[in-house]
Amino acid sequence: MDVKERLSEYAEMTENALQKYLPQTECLQKSVLEAARYSLSAGGKRIRPALVMEFCRVCGEEPETALPVACAIEMLHTFSLIHDDMPCMDNDDMRRGKPSCHKAFGEATAMLAGDALAMLPYQIIADAGLRKRLSRDSALKIIRLLGELSGIWGMIGGQTIDLENENKRPDVSVILEMYRMKTGALLEFCCRAGCIAAGADADKQLAAGSYGQRLGLAFQIVDDILDVTADEKLLGKPVGSDAADGKYTYVTAVGLEKAKEKAAELTAQAKEQLVEFSDNEFLMGLTDLLLERRF
Ligand code: IPE
Ligand code: IPE
Ligand code: MG
Ligand code: MG
Ligand code: MG
Repeated sequence: MDVKERLSEYAEMTENALQKYLPQTECLQKSVLEAARYSLSAGGKRIRPALVMEFCRVCGEEPETALPVACAIEMLHTFSLIHDDMPCMDNDDMRRGKPSCHKAFGEATAMLAGDALAMLPYQIIADAGLRKRLSRDSALKIIRLLGELSGIWGMIGGQTIDLENENKRPDVSVILEMYRMKTGALLEFCCRAGCIAAGADADKQLAAGSYGQRLGLAFQIVDDILDVTADEKLLGKPVGSDAADGKYTYVTAVGLEKAKEKAAELTAQAKEQLVEFSDNEFLMGLTDLLLERRF
């Protein structure tokens, strides 16, 4: 099976569905709609939607069942990127190969576009439940999980720890806890939500969660490695941004070689969790692809 091909099939399903949630219409609040559409359709690897739909599939349901959840998490992730790039946070001018949202639309509109993409996900998942595309029980559980893993106990908590440690030298254990929250939490959400959408049992959700956590740590370490080693054109966002912001990353703490070893180790651990799923070829391949990625 060609992992990249399957990934682009999932990406295409996601692009088409996202367009429907944010239509091009004339309205008084057009600026915020355009800014949200701009950041959302600027590309991006669409890893999170793929994880949601694939976990749903390996739990025995059609991937389409989880499509609303896949779109919801891509929106929420895009919100995190819009705010992450703003001058009060990482102050980065490029994202997904284009000027960052605040560069293209100004700070106030970018802030509101981020806010909008933080809220629409809950509406979309609730609608999927109300229209019985998902069972109401699944929709409710997914909404609850998204609140937990994107908020103070998840992504936003991690972003806070990140900012509070600028120009400091936190312990490696603090760095990894920050990564677990700022990046791992949303990836954990994707894997668990895919299982919940399929109505899978608790063991499957547990294994998917452990996989997502380990993948998340590896993913952020690779992101930090790429911040030092990548080709900026290919990466689509500034290289050297972490050093410029006084971020003390896992790479700064242990060096490039040890960071690469740790990412490989976490990737191997993540793959071990996939034994719970019989049809796991794509997930295995995707996990390796994310370790070896150049952007
Ligand atoms: C970037 O995420 C932010 C991190 C959590 C490291 P991605 O690398 O998935 O960004 P896109 O969606 O492909 O742009
Ligand atoms: C990303 O961390 C975490 C988010 C929740 C957005 P980074 O700040 O390293 O992500 P990039 O490198 O800007 O994509
Ligand atoms: Mg950041
Ligand atoms: Mg950043
Ligand atoms: Mg980064």
